Amino acid sequence: MELNLETDYADRAYTLLASLVTPRPIALVTTISADGRVNAAPFSFFNLLGANPPICAFAPGDREDGTPRDTARNVRSTHEFVVNLVDETIAEAMNQCAASLPFGENELTRAGLTAAPSSIVKPPRIAESPASLECVEWGTLQIGGNRVIIGLIKRLHVRGELFDLEKKRINTDKLFTIGRMASPHWYCKTRDRFEMKRPD
Ligand SMILES: Cc1cc2nc3c(=O)[nH]c(=O)nc-3n(C[C@H](O)[C@H](O)[C@H](O)COP(=O)(O)O)c2cc1C
Repeated sequence: MELNLETDYADRAYTLLASLVTPRPIALVTTISADGRVNAAPFSFFNLLGANPPICAFAPGDREDGTPRDTARNVRSTHEFVVNLVDETIAEAMNQCAASLPFGENELTRAGLTAAPSSIVKPPRIAESPASLECVEWGTLQIGGNRVIIGLIKRLHVRGELFDLEKKRINTDKLFTIGRMASPHWYCKTRDRFEMKRPD
């Protein structure tokens, strides 16, 4: 089947693509408004884009009325954010953070998550997350109703049991991040893993 996303299937683009490009990692992004109010929201249009320097990006889509989501609005005014990774233990809480609360209402408190101070950015990290990336906005691309927010990752916080200090490696056998599958309600666990060596 060939589907034209510019004509017949334009209004199905999101549903079709978000069901196919899977699994996607989830960023539970914390930001702070100009007057200091904390916001948290999940984004699965998210990935790590490079390591030298370390960069990541996520993409809040504008609301139906063309206004930016609270996260995008906060990044535009304060230029900082924290990407908190999501594992099985905070899956439910992450989902709670997707509720549309009035601007300035704190999703973290409602979801039973704890704000912990970040080191170099103002938005807090989430204490329960397996890992948090402190980011400074590098730039935001506005492509139609998408805002692609690119961040320079300045600090990495990792739950103690996940870090092998001697080898300076992540204990991936203890990391159980979840992935987003078909929108809106499907997810996957990442417990079924296999190794495949690259050819020389
Ligand atoms: C797992 C998950 C992933 C999501 N990914 C995105 C995304 O990539 N882009 C987006 O605009 N909304 C996404 N949403 C919806 C937003 O989280 C939701 O609209 C939220 O209320 C936005 O909050 P804010 O206005 O505080 O920024 C996602 C929701 C869930 C549950």
